[in-house]
Amino acid sequence: MHAEHPTTAVRTREPGTEGCATAVAHPNIALIKYWGKRDERLVLPRTDSLSLTLDVFPTTTRVRLAPGALHDEVTFGGVPAQGEARRRIIAFLELVRERAGLPHRAVVDTENTVPTGAGLASSASGFAALAVAASAAYGLGLDPTALSRLARRGSGSASRSIFGGFAIWHAGRDSDPDPDLGSYAQPVPAGDLDPALVVAVVDAGPKSVSSREAMRRTVDTSPLYRSWAASSEDDLADMQRALLRADLDAVGEIAERNALGMHATMLAARPAVRYLSPATLTVLDSVLQLRRDGVPAYATMDAGPNVKVLCRRTDAHQVAGAVRAAAPGGSVHIAGPGQGAHLLDEAP
Ligand code: PMV
Repeated sequence: MHAEHPTTAVRTREPGTEGCATAVAHPNIALIKYWGKRDERLVLPRTDSLSLTLDVFPTTTRVRLAPGALHDEVTFGGVPAQGEARRRIIAFLELVRERAGLPHRAVVDTENTVPTGAGLASSASGFAALAVAASAAYGLGLDPTALSRLARRGSGSASRSIFGGFAIWHAGRDSDPDPDLGSYAQPVPAGDLDPALVVAVVDAGPKSVSSREAMRRTVDTSPLYRSWAASSEDDLADMQRALLRADLDAVGEIAERNALGMHATMLAARPAVRYLSPATLTVLDSVLQLRRDGVPAYATMDAGPNVKVLCRRTDAHQVAGAVRAAAPGGSVHIAGPGQGAHLLDEAP
């Protein structure tokens, strides 16, 4: 079930005035969550995390060098980017320019198909696609591990979208000679699970608190944070064993407890961060009912009210039907394991 990792075959172009590259990346959903940084500038997490890259909601990003231009031009689907989103992309380009030793500004256009800011990890696919496209346009010949480190600087979870299928993001250690080098994602071996993730979008609006701010507040003020971080280490070890033996029930149980624990840490923050809405809880009830009816289905939620339900691919339509009935106002999507971030061939 492992997707190929086309980044291993990335063809980078020569740096220079014609540097142009387009990349596509998919969101990933963490089964063992990343929640809390130990270094904000380098985006180093406090714990390891593990995710599944999806085959839906791709982000496509084109980067073209613009020698002589005074500013970067950043658009989302042709519309100029504003505020924080624009600032983060330009800061990322600065990092790439510094590494490439090239001063050129760039024209960046991104097509996002995931509802932005709804806890569906558009920043993961966004910065993974930008890392692959920008590093190719600026002529950096990066291997997948280096691309994962680079994508991490844009958004932590993006480090995992460089890879297809299941991926682990190593937190690294402060004792590493260079902490930046120790924190990257890599594929995780798994047996033949044939999983699906049923994504219930109960609210596609922007989130009230950014994940960056919510993480900071949780780490600084939640009395539950330390114990969740410690139990997350155990969850990760259990998860890797469950994946190897292709035990979907165990994978789901571990993912669900890890996610609920993460939300518990936020609820205990001061002031509390609450992403879960009444519609979230209604969907969670429907997942419990599915299990009572003998359908293995397990829920996970990120920095938003939407619910992703892990199940067997053969049960995905039944699960989608139950979830749709529980949250009739929302939309439901069935996802499977997707590919890692990769370059698209440019039309000549
Ligand atoms: O990459 P960020 O900063 O958007 O953080 C995402 C954190 C979660 O989605 C909530 C969990 C995860 O591991 O993806």
